[in-house]
Amino acid sequence: MSAEEWDRRYAGRELLWTAAPTRFLVAEATDLVRGRALDLACGEGRNAVWLAEQGWRVTGVDFSQVGLRKARLLAERRGVEVAWVCADLVGYRPDRGAYELVIVFYLQVPAHERRAVVRAAADAVAPGGTLLVVAHDSSNIERGYGGPQDPRVLYDGAAVVADLEGTGLEVERAEVVERRVDDPAAGGRSALDVLVRARRG
Ligand SMILES: C[S@@+](CC[C@H](N)C(=O)[O-])C[C@H]1O[C@@H](n2cnc3c(N)ncnc32)[C@H](O)[C@@H]1O
Repeated sequence: MSAEEWDRRYAGRELLWTAAPTRFLVAEATDLVRGRALDLACGEGRNAVWLAEQGWRVTGVDFSQVGLRKARLLAERRGVEVAWVCADLVGYRPDRGAYELVIVFYLQVPAHERRAVVRAAADAVAPGGTLLVVAHDSSNIERGYGGPQDPRVLYDGAAVVADLEGTGLEVERAEVVERRVDDPAAGGRSALDVLVRARRG
């Protein structure tokens, strides 16, 4: 989807997603030593704002001006500061080794774009820092619930691990994780996400 299409999706007054952080971020980042964090594809800012509340110095990047406007409002309401950057991640090169935490959550783009973003994200991780990638998994269409129905934008843990080859990061987790869905239409099914955690030693 283009930036304009995302702007249209975000156009309503309500949040498209939620103000609460992704549960996988809370689980993975709560115990990390605070430092600089980079949220790539930050959307309406739920994860960037939560990280700022936890004491991280956060930069959030997205190409949707409308999403970023909502993110700014969320940060203001919650009394935290985040540096917001409007940029297309395909071609965006954050400073090398500048962040103790880099996250890429639910950026559902075709494989060649995913690879470029994941490798740039990895390069941005500082020594001792962590990269977290979470996305709808390729098994979600058949066995999970919700999310994009175009298989070309779904992730595969092994592919993300391959993206990271040669970046100097050590993969600590690469697995499919279940996300419980409250929607009655899910009929008890969970959403299936891929979670990759990697660290620069
Ligand atoms: C499903 S939303 C996820 C938002 C956020 N990570 C979250 O978990 O709430 C995907 C986001 O990726 C952004 N996005 C998609 N392609 C992008 C690109 N090429 N450059 C920058 N942002 C992009 C969209 O604008 C949208 O905000």
